[in-house]
Amino acid sequence: MDTKDIQERGSWGSKIAFILAASGSAIGLGNIWRFPMMVGKNGGAVFVFVYILAVILIGFTVMLAELIIGRHAQKNPVGAIEHIKPRSPWKFIGYLGILTGVCILSYYSVVAGWAVGYLVKTASGVFSGEVTSQLTERIFTEFSSNPFEVLLFFLIIIVITTFIISKGVKGGIERWTKVLMPLLFILIFFLAIRALALPGSSKGLSFYLKPDFSKLNGTIILFALGQAFFSLSLGMGTMITYGSYLPKSDNLVSSAGWVCFADTLIAILAGIIIFPTLFAIPGIAPTAGSGLVFKVFPLIFSQIPGGFIFGSLFFLLLSVAALTSTISLLEVPVAYFVDERNWSRKKAAWMIGFLSFVLGVPSALSSGGVKFFTKIDFQNAMDFIFGNVSLAFGALLICFFLGYIWGVRKAVQEVLSGNPRFKLKPLWAFSIKFLTPVAIIIILIFIKTIFSG
Ligand code: PHE
Repeated sequence: MDTKDIQERGSWGSKIAFILAASGSAIGLGNIWRFPMMVGKNGGAVFVFVYILAVILIGFTVMLAELIIGRHAQKNPVGAIEHIKPRSPWKFIGYLGILTGVCILSYYSVVAGWAVGYLVKTASGVFSGEVTSQLTERIFTEFSSNPFEVLLFFLIIIVITTFIISKGVKGGIERWTKVLMPLLFILIFFLAIRALALPGSSKGLSFYLKPDFSKLNGTIILFALGQAFFSLSLGMGTMITYGSYLPKSDNLVSSAGWVCFADTLIAILAGIIIFPTLFAIPGIAPTAGSGLVFKVFPLIFSQIPGGFIFGSLFFLLLSVAALTSTISLLEVPVAYFVDERNWSRKKAAWMIGFLSFVLGVPSALSSGGVKFFTKIDFQNAMDFIFGNVSLAFGALLICFFLGYIWGVRKAVQEVLSGNPRFKLKPLWAFSIKFLTPVAIIIILIFIKTIFSG
């Protein structure tokens, strides 16, 4: 590829622009909706403990691997692997990533639509009177089982996502994330302090942060690892694609480190808001599942002066955080059809956007909208298959490809151009070749026993 091509593909405006865009992809419903739900359903603090270990030992390893592959090849996931290992079946990793992206986008956008719906509700004063846990429970059930409302907000998310991607990511996304992500951060921080000050918050805090290791089991490890991949946007080539816009002078190690850190911090803070509130105002079980944050956040706003403003602002920022993730989910398949199949960006975006909508309808109707989909819990099943298993499997293949097919030595060269010392090299090499693949394989084998037993 000559320099002209590189210029035409474009690149991030600065290191901070990349970190914000990649964090924008990573930070989203995964942190604020999925993480607390997983913690609640999987034993509390012990899950948090395994999760943090998984981010440091495994998530960081895979994040760096994806950035290396992307920056080296300067291409979408399928093109990148073709570039490194031409005409080999390893391209399958890229195709799997595309399929996974479309499937995650389909149910993820449904929940993003809930966030928009809650923005409208909060701003129109639904939570302005006396708010009890029974009330938030009832409002969520009524809302999520109303097919018309849910499908409408879901459609709005898909249309906005598709529109932005059809115009190209750069200008829009870079500009938005730079302002809105820091704002989300400040608001979350503030709400965490408020939640901690609630009388009776300590019980929630100890559920959240004091691990009871006797609860540790294979299911918890499986979900913690899956959550790490999901939350960091790993295992489907998002970071290959985002890394492909990085300049050679960038220090990939510190970039990966910053994204992992920011993402984990937001998830931990989201839990610090949810669990103390949950235990201080009883009525909702931590195991409430996908409605958890929608039932708990309105409760905390009702306890704050100006809760109406903060509540509206929170759901607005949550919708935006979700949007910076849906955009990255759609960008992977679109980049493929544009680069490799010569489709126009517009055509690719609208075709795949439409497909994701159709695919998402059963998920939208599985929280009470249609009995059959509710009974088989379609949305949860999609999340398990694509948000857990498929990402873990994709990450495993990426480790194999980098560690054994391309070779760690060549990959390390790619890091050195922006980080001549690369002090973590021996640790990272060990993790990519042995630790991470072994951990994922054990977990994938576990799935079978967990679900047959
Ligand atoms: N990481 C995003 C979140 O936490 C979701 C996501 C997963 C985005 C995989 C891209 C790829 O909300």
